[in-house]
Amino acid sequence: MRIVTPIPGPKARAIIAADTEYVATTTKTSPIAAAEAKGVWVTDVDGNRLLDFAAGVGVLNVGHCHPDVVRAVREQSERLMHFAGTDFYYENQTRLAKKLGEVTPGNYEKKVFFTNSGTESAEAALKLVRWNRQRPLVLGLLGSFHGRTMGSLALTASKSIQRARFNAHTGGAMHIPPPYCYRCPYKLTYPSCDLYCAKILKELYFETSVPPEDVAAFVAEPVMGEGGYIVPPNGWHGALKRILDEHQILLVDDEVQSGIGRTGKMFAIEHTGVVPDVVTTAKSLGGGLPIGSIIYRKTLDYTYQGAHSNTFGGNLVAVAAAEAVLGVIEREHLLENARDQGEYLRRRLVELQQKYEVIGDVRGLGLMVATEFVENRETKAPAVALRDRILVEGYRRGLILLPCGKSTIRYIPPLVIRREEVDEGVEILDAAIAAALRDG
Ligand SMILES: Cc1ncc(COP(=O)(O)O)c(C=O)c1O
Repeated sequence: MRIVTPIPGPKARAIIAADTEYVATTTKTSPIAAAEAKGVWVTDVDGNRLLDFAAGVGVLNVGHCHPDVVRAVREQSERLMHFAGTDFYYENQTRLAKKLGEVTPGNYEKKVFFTNSGTESAEAALKLVRWNRQRPLVLGLLGSFHGRTMGSLALTASKSIQRARFNAHTGGAMHIPPPYCYRCPYKLTYPSCDLYCAKILKELYFETSVPPEDVAAFVAEPVMGEGGYIVPPNGWHGALKRILDEHQILLVDDEVQSGIGRTGKMFAIEHTGVVPDVVTTAKSLGGGLPIGSIIYRKTLDYTYQGAHSNTFGGNLVAVAAAEAVLGVIEREHLLENARDQGEYLRRRLVELQQKYEVIGDVRGLGLMVATEFVENRETKAPAVALRDRILVEGYRRGLILLPCGKSTIRYIPPLVIRREEVDEGVEILDAAIAAALRDG
């Protein structure tokens, strides 16, 4: 970590001014303007070196500019960049599809459709399940995030602002409350709750407003990401799946944020033992290049051409990057490292929780970890302003962080992170919390 100017420095401020002038308003979080990066380190345009605990919003699982990914991209782009893999043929797409099928849970034959983003993966999954089941509804969880295009937005329910002014155009989805033990929607306690948050689907929804024969699929993140890094309690997935199976409702596992090794397994749902019918990916699959995919039961594939397709899906350069990413995860044992460093990071965060009353909860799986900030551990009132000040104090000291949920910070460094770097990040976080509390 090296801080040579206030952040943002003069060059960053000029870029931010131009961005504000010319680039669409989106979801900007921190005034960091990057110039280059390697592994877990980012250098900004003013020469500050920051530790990246955000990994490009969960994209850089193999680290920034991994040499194997860079080489694969360079070599492929010198040979052939685009040949429309939906309309014609090339080998690296079929090779990647086969590999993805092999590393995805489910002891059944699979097929893969390639996309360019997470939301496009969600759209592709929604079309596939609707085409197959010919039922009008899909179900999801309040608090979930699946993307911002109209189809996926119908399922996204993590912040009202994402849906404001669009609700009239997003249809066909209904939600049940989340399996959020720290703030149980039913004020119950695990395990005496007997997983009511799954069983309510059958006991209340199917009885009153959601005829199960109208439901094509249930779509859920295995760990709710934008909604606050909520890990469902043990047994939740199994209880849900049993209910879905009674009605031939498909399970779509949205692994856009949690997949490709983030939680110490290739896909987070592997922690539960439940086998989904469709898995969606994007984000870290391309190591920084835009590529996503849906991996699904071969029996669900379209039986004629034209129901679904795209232009750039399975782009040769992005596929080359994805093959390199999967190779790096294997060769560098990144699943093990995600488990080891994740466990260590979690331990260090629990130490901070013992030091700071404002950390109400520490949760996560592997290197998908978060702390929820509260005003008071009894009332659990969300400490939103404090959380926001910690983010600022973090980047001022050289730590790139991202929020999620209402008052939570997520910690998702690249999976190549070493223990010393985890320590460095936690020390900055410690100082950032202390400073935020002083200023509050
Ligand atoms: C679980 C999940 N699904 C889908 C998406 C949408 O992905 P994208 O932003 O690439 O459209 C995200 C993005 O955060 C996500 O976390």
